[in-house]
Amino acid sequence: MCGIVGYIGFRNASDFLLDGLHRLEYRGYDSAGIAVFHKGEVAVRKRAGRVCELDRLIETDGVEGTVGIGHTRWATHGETTDVNSHPHVGGNGEVVLVHNGVVENHNSLRTQLQTLGYVFRTTTDTEVIAHLIAHHLEKRIETDGEICTHEACVEVVETAMRKIEGTYGVAVLFRDCPDLIVAARAGSPLVVGIGRGEYFVASDAGPLVGYTEEVVYLADHEIVALTSESIDLLHRDAGKKSPSIQVLDQVAGDTSLGDFEHYMLKEIYEQPQSIENAMRGRFDESEATAMFGGLNLDPQQLRRVDRVVLTACGTSWHAGLVGEYLLEEFARLPTEVEYASELRYRNPPLTDNTMVFAITQSGETADTLAAMRECKRKGHPTLAICNVVGSSIAREADGGIYLHAGPEIGVASTKAFTSQVTVLTLLALYLGRMRHLSYPAGRRMIDQLREMPDKLRKALTCHDAVREVAAKYHGFNNFLYLGRLYNFPVALEGALKMKEISYIHAEGYPAAEMKHGPIALVEEKTPSIFVIPRGGIYPKVMSNLEEVRARCGPVIAIACEGDDTVADLADDVIFVPDVEEYLQPLVTSIPLQLLAYHVALLRDCNVDRPRNLAKSVTVE
Ligand code: M6R
Repeated sequence: MCGIVGYIGFRNASDFLLDGLHRLEYRGYDSAGIAVFHKGEVAVRKRAGRVCELDRLIETDGVEGTVGIGHTRWATHGETTDVNSHPHVGGNGEVVLVHNGVVENHNSLRTQLQTLGYVFRTTTDTEVIAHLIAHHLEKRIETDGEICTHEACVEVVETAMRKIEGTYGVAVLFRDCPDLIVAARAGSPLVVGIGRGEYFVASDAGPLVGYTEEVVYLADHEIVALTSESIDLLHRDAGKKSPSIQVLDQVAGDTSLGDFEHYMLKEIYEQPQSIENAMRGRFDESEATAMFGGLNLDPQQLRRVDRVVLTACGTSWHAGLVGEYLLEEFARLPTEVEYASELRYRNPPLTDNTMVFAITQSGETADTLAAMRECKRKGHPTLAICNVVGSSIAREADGGIYLHAGPEIGVASTKAFTSQVTVLTLLALYLGRMRHLSYPAGRRMIDQLREMPDKLRKALTCHDAVREVAAKYHGFNNFLYLGRLYNFPVALEGALKMKEISYIHAEGYPAAEMKHGPIALVEEKTPSIFVIPRGGIYPKVMSNLEEVRARCGPVIAIACEGDDTVADLADDVIFVPDVEEYLQPLVTSIPLQLLAYHVALLRDCNVDRPRNLAKSVTVE
């Protein structure tokens, strides 16, 4: 994971680097650091903890210079200490670099480099890259008797990176070439921003917004050499290339907290608006269907689709499960939901007319990107349902649908989930109307979808009731989340929210599966959260609820307004508005998000930055 930035030009580099690191902090917040050419040497400032810790360090021990690199870390190898923070130094200080990725062969490289006399100061995998580059530089200078030139620097980065197994995005400074940054990528994204008399480097386009509108996205195995006046691009195998300059179509979204205490709460409250944004301009009233601008497939191709694969991770995978139910019910298309981390290495038989959707908020999740590439390689149309415009997945997909949810900053995904479910509902309507769904059924869906922002507003009025439930149960250490059909993925998602921000063990299950094992967990200290709105399967879920009560398990029910039967049976009830069954995940997920939020607060957890996590998982 990790985020990297670089700057070469005329500004005070540390201002851009720190600003960029704040914008990239969603990629990791274990430590942060910068290296800047300062008074003739490369000055490194780094510290374990969030970027604001680094801000404080720079306030008292600043570095001035117009060339530098920076890093915010999500630890993979080596503890989160000051010394393990990036930038890392190679050789005797000839090379300083930042790295995003994983060096899989770091053990053998470390041994080889130690034999050659290199002294390791950290327990990171990255330090081997720093020493390896330094080693090749030293060799080249020895053999050619050359001083350190730009060409030599690029060449040694290229030679060193050939020896790395794994993934990397690196930005490198050379002590003896103060007017140069060399950056290279394989597997971890890197984008170069082009200014007038200045260049920028970053893991994604976020840090460049407001600085430049021209960017070059590096492809795997490309290396770029930047001075304040030039950009030279080469591909490891194909040699010199001219950079393909694109216009950055990303605008700075609203990243302020407003009146909210945490981003997670702000984003929960944004949901009526964000699902409205996901629907805006996407209804075709006269044809009683949905419409999308960017699928890049003609109606013929879409009609030939006979199977859909949805691939994603985490919350996005849960949204995919809702999508499976929707696509099968409304479009009658066989649909499978695959964990991207599994799909990338599996080889499931896919028909020629299988359409693959990668679902992702960030568009940078490494497993999702790899699964998408694997399906593309096999010739399937591969589309994305994505929030971040210009992200790696959005750019590499054959087409797709943006969520338009605005920046999601809280690590726990909330509004992205409801926006993904909304888009998948539109997709089911669209593909359904090309197949078996009638005009009146399409009209009904449009009318019902249009009501959803108000229904979500209403669902948010459960906040006080949720607060009380959280106060009663925050001391418990195990929770079961149970639901069926459309509310089974909601149960999984509710459990994930609870786990990731309050560190409580929570299991999501289809309510009826519980009796095949998990019911053994039911006892007075294990509350079961039943997602039990009215619908065809309501009496069945009710029986499951009774089974838990019979074993003295506390029951918290998420039920439809006015459901006195459930209210009488459950220990606690939280009401949500009554909506059609296929739309229930949009309202039933809200109390579960709020519950996780309040329990986490009461347990004194960092709601927006939970331990061990990062907003975007860019390592496999
Ligand atoms: O950005 P993506 O949607 O691809 O992220 C996938 C997961 O990493 C993400 O949903 C994760 O599970 C969330 N932190 C859950 O709240």
